[in-house]
Amino acid sequence: MFAVDPAAICVIDANPAAERLTGYSRLELVGMNIGDLRPLQEFVKDPKHSREGAPHFARSHHSTLEHRNGDRVPIVFTSSDRFSVGGRELVLWVFREMSDLERHRHRLATLQWALSAYGGAAMALVQADSSEGLLQAICEAITRESTYALAWVGTAEDLPGKPVSFIAAAGRAKESLEGLRISWDEEQDTGNGTAGLAIRTGKMHIVDNIETSEEYSPWREWARRIGVQSLIGIPLVGRGDWRGVLVVCASRVHAFEEGAIEVFEHLATEIGHGLNSLHQKELLEAEYQQRMKAQQQLTGALTAMVSAMVAAVETRDPYTAGHENRSADIACAIGRELGWDADRLMGLRMAAMVHDFGKISVPTKILSKPEKLTPEEWALMVKHPETGYEILKDIPFSWPVADIMRQHHEKLDGSGYPLGLKEDEILPEAKVLAVADIVEAMTSDRPYRLGLDLQIALAEIERQAGVTLDAEAVGVCVRLFREKGYKLPE
Ligand SMILES: [Fe+2]
Ligand SMILES: [Fe+2]
Repeated sequence: MFAVDPAAICVIDANPAAERLTGYSRLELVGMNIGDLRPLQEFVKDPKHSREGAPHFARSHHSTLEHRNGDRVPIVFTSSDRFSVGGRELVLWVFREMSDLERHRHRLATLQWALSAYGGAAMALVQADSSEGLLQAICEAITRESTYALAWVGTAEDLPGKPVSFIAAAGRAKESLEGLRISWDEEQDTGNGTAGLAIRTGKMHIVDNIETSEEYSPWREWARRIGVQSLIGIPLVGRGDWRGVLVVCASRVHAFEEGAIEVFEHLATEIGHGLNSLHQKELLEAEYQQRMKAQQQLTGALTAMVSAMVAAVETRDPYTAGHENRSADIACAIGRELGWDADRLMGLRMAAMVHDFGKISVPTKILSKPEKLTPEEWALMVKHPETGYEILKDIPFSWPVADIMRQHHEKLDGSGYPLGLKEDEILPEAKVLAVADIVEAMTSDRPYRLGLDLQIALAEIERQAGVTLDAEAVGVCVRLFREKGYKLPE
């Protein structure tokens, strides 16, 4: 700011900013003709900028001011109306340095862009479900609403010639990448560009002007064609020995200043984290898929085995085989009503299908004996849950099939066999199977009697509910038949 004598057009006083802007001290400035500050002469002499015989600039004027050291600084200047202080007429000349304003404006634009790029990258980090998806989204976030013509990510391949292959790209010039050759091998003529250097050194690499950068010559023609003048390469480090590079191309020279570089550095760190966590996720997913496949194979094999067991029992004792199948249907119907999921019901079905398999060690004549069993015969008969358990216990079912089988004659009050378990010591599946077992056994024909009426069987389990049988399982079973139209399996 200069206080100027309007008649003599000479400086009366100047502030410290005026000293900085011109390079002259206040003492040197005082008395100086304002027109001596180059190149203001033309303005001062121009009669159209004159009022009452003195230069006057009510509007802002853009010009440059030559600093004492010869530097030219872009400025905007205005002057005030005349006024008087202590009887002395003066005008104020106000200069504003534009390079600062320009810098600020640019900085603001960079920050705005950075915010949007961060926002996009953050979304990508949350939403992406593959490394490629993440990198693509980040390239898009960088080029969206920005002056960058192109952003791409390459992987350093460990192949002959050490090529860099593109895995993501965005921006108006992304099509131009097709067929572009880039290497990270020092020996190759295409190995010393931005990408190659960033990968090899692990450090950021900037080409401020493609016209003057020697190492950039292999791609100069390409860059001219798509209007790229400067670019930056940021090394990316992922899991294991994965190495890559993020390259951003701009359509003006010296496009990469502090603010933007900071953004890219942060993004590179975020990308590293993102790639790592995605890799973990991919590993887990692959492991899960593999386990599921193994589980399915195992389940398939075990199901085939259970079917073989059922078939074996069937040839020897058709009553037991039919009983096991029907008990399984009833038990699963109860389990489903209890809200058990498909996997749990599968385990229940497996166990129910073979629950009396231990009877294989009981002579057929005892199994089909119409009369009451002798104490010795009964002693053989009650061994069947334990025998079945012994046969199945080492088979790696993913459900407690052997235990369910072993517990299907246990009773809540501890009066069951073979272990005399009580209440919560008995598996819920075994409690459900016990109910289904009784209903099926009572209602179907046996060698020694005809099947009883369903209502008698239901009355019987209701009588035992909460005493020997689980009350909830009984309640569900009774409701199934009486209210939900469930029919005894054929
Ligand atoms: Fe049984
Ligand atoms: Fe049974």
